[in-house]
Amino acid sequence: MQTRTLGTTGPRTSAIGLGCMGMSALYGATDRAESIATIHAALEAGVTLLDTGDFYGMGHNELLINEALRTAPPAHREQALTSVKFGALRTVEGGFSGYDGRPEAVKNFAAYSLQRLGTGHIDIYRIARRDPAVPIEETVGAVAELVKAGHVRHIGLSEVGAHTIRRAASEAPVSDLQIEYSLISRGIEDEILPACRELGIGVTAYGVLSRGLISGNWSRERQLAPGDFRSMSPRFSGENLDRNLDLVESLRRIADGKGISVAQTAIAWVLSRGDDIVPLVGARTRRRLTESLSALDVTLDADDLDAIEQAVPAGSASGDRYPEAQMAHLDSEQRPQGEK
Ligand SMILES: NC(=O)c1ccc[n+]([C@@H]2O[C@H](COP(=O)([O-])OP(=O)(O)OC[C@H]3O[C@@H](n4cnc5c(N)ncnc54)[C@H](OP(=O)(O)O)[C@@H]3O)[C@@H](O)[C@H]2O)c1
Repeated sequence: MQTRTLGTTGPRTSAIGLGCMGMSALYGATDRAESIATIHAALEAGVTLLDTGDFYGMGHNELLINEALRTAPPAHREQALTSVKFGALRTVEGGFSGYDGRPEAVKNFAAYSLQRLGTGHIDIYRIARRDPAVPIEETVGAVAELVKAGHVRHIGLSEVGAHTIRRAASEAPVSDLQIEYSLISRGIEDEILPACRELGIGVTAYGVLSRGLISGNWSRERQLAPGDFRSMSPRFSGENLDRNLDLVESLRRIADGKGISVAQTAIAWVLSRGDDIVPLVGARTRRRLTESLSALDVTLDADDLDAIEQAVPAGSASGDRYPEAQMAHLDSEQRPQGEK
């Protein structure tokens, strides 16, 4: 397995990480046995980074990772790194009701996550969305205290903009920013990625397949279960979906020419953007995992990259990457103003 280091202070990890969210939430029906088998197969293949959030299935995802690690061979278990997001507040009905980044809340979230994961420590801990009511320094400072106490190894950030990254990094060392980055979500390129590079912060990129949309495995006919994130996503609806799938067909022509799949092309493209970027793939089955890990064997030369750029130019996606209400929680999409 190829490896990459997350920033100047972060851990060395497999060049591709496994995002476990879809094994518990947001992408329709889940299969516990196949989820565990997928995590085991990933560890067996040398994947060391497992990404989760305490709110993915309200603890379900952490308990799933606990079971997978407990039943994995010790050598694989010992190599695994847990990357955990916290801060999202849930309702009994399963809704989302905001974020809490107060120091006492951070420590409370961590106490529950440590119990559910059963790993003794969390490798990278990050608030999922900045809490606008709490200065980022206070939230990051609380995670830094958890590091000091040995409960957490590294501090991460998620979906924050350059200004917040700078403030956070001035409080404590930050290993990586987790943020959406793909052929059709390139918003980080102007300011956020340069800021991370200047500060020695790595990137764990999620949505590299745009939640399946640019995997080559999506179709207009696909039926979505109630509650599937994609049934509310602007990019998966109406004419936006038609236009986005046209982009995928352009990409498919390039992939076919190289004898690889569209998903492999999209993941290899993210890998090609720099050694400081680690794509998280959201494979939920061993089949999808095998396909996505094969992206590590793909080389995209300058001609390939030019052809991909022409097929899917920056900014060519139709529709925002989140529904409007969720876009408002993305510090990464806001301009700094009147902040605390
Ligand atoms: N920080 C944040 O705000 C944030 C937000 C979202 C996610 N994340 C993290 O990032 C991880 C990855 O995000 P994501 O799940 O949206 O990523 P993704 O890899 O873009 O999408 C995953 C979806 O693509 C489909 N797919 C089709 N072909 C695939 C292939 N060859 N390999 C893998 N998946 C394929 C899968 O659905 P089917 O198998 O059903 O077709 C799967 O549900 C998450 O698990 C989570 O840990 C973080």
